[in-house]
Amino acid sequence: MPRVLVTRTLEAGAWQAFQACGWDLELLEAPSAQQLVAAAKHCHGLVSMLTDRLDAAFFAAIQGSPLQIIAQHAVGVDNIDLAAARAAGIQVTNTPDVLTHATAEFALTLLLNLLRRVREGEILLRSGQWQGWEPTQLLGSSLRGKKVGVLGAGRIGQAFAGLAHALGAELAYYSRSRKPALESSTGARWMNFKELLAWSEVLSLHLPGGPETHHLLNAETLSYLPRGAMLINTGRGNSIDQQALIQALASGHLGGVALDVYEHEPHIPAELLAFPQALLLPHLGSATVETRRAMALTCLRNLQAVFAGQPPLNPVV
Ligand code: DGY
Repeated sequence: MPRVLVTRTLEAGAWQAFQACGWDLELLEAPSAQQLVAAAKHCHGLVSMLTDRLDAAFFAAIQGSPLQIIAQHAVGVDNIDLAAARAAGIQVTNTPDVLTHATAEFALTLLLNLLRRVREGEILLRSGQWQGWEPTQLLGSSLRGKKVGVLGAGRIGQAFAGLAHALGAELAYYSRSRKPALESSTGARWMNFKELLAWSEVLSLHLPGGPETHHLLNAETLSYLPRGAMLINTGRGNSIDQQALIQALASGHLGGVALDVYEHEPHIPAELLAFPQALLLPHLGSATVETRRAMALTCLRNLQAVFAGQPPLNPVV
């Protein structure tokens, strides 16, 4: 009977499906590095989270284990040393597609909240300072006609563009390859990186993690944005140099930010917390019951395939 280690409580419906598989399941809630190694040494499958650090040291420490598959419960795999996994002969899988809509929808939620100053309005009300309706109070701006730049046009970036287009945004995007379907369905124009930043009134980041995107938004590149521009990030925190972001907010160069991801999660710098124009969420992009169930079930199907000696459905290569 395959032994499967799971490193966080999964969505309840999906967990029932895991229990029905007849596997020997071990649930370790947020294990330390040592606990993870000790348990993984005896497992055939591992359901990992982006909070688990599966680096070269991990793979060295579990050498000789029966581990066949790491089914990552996320689309991003930047917490896993893929080269070390490959060298160890361990298959890595992820959960693409099933979280695309939820994450795009969440980016749209942040965009609308930012433009309409929802957070600032709630702060005003809860502070007891609200004196009643005023014609010039907390004026935001409409998404209709707003220049929204999409940085990274993978599945989620494209889905976000579709939602913003439906609400009347003007769109442009940058990604390494042109996306003809995106251009024809939303009118989005391809621009190079610098042009996109200089054009965007709001820039939404949909970039994968990893060395290529590390600090892509830094003091220099943030300065390409027009003064007062807004920034949204639902991708990976380290795409933005957080100190440069804080400076850009403090100087007023950035008019507002909405972040769901951070450089050193779950640590959030106190300076960032202090800005009323910073809407800060705890990495909730894919957090719907439907999506988290689908993500866990995707892990399950990948485990089943590998245990049956078949190729997994969502291999990460
Ligand atoms: C992912 O899947 O990579 C998200 O960041 C978590 O849902």
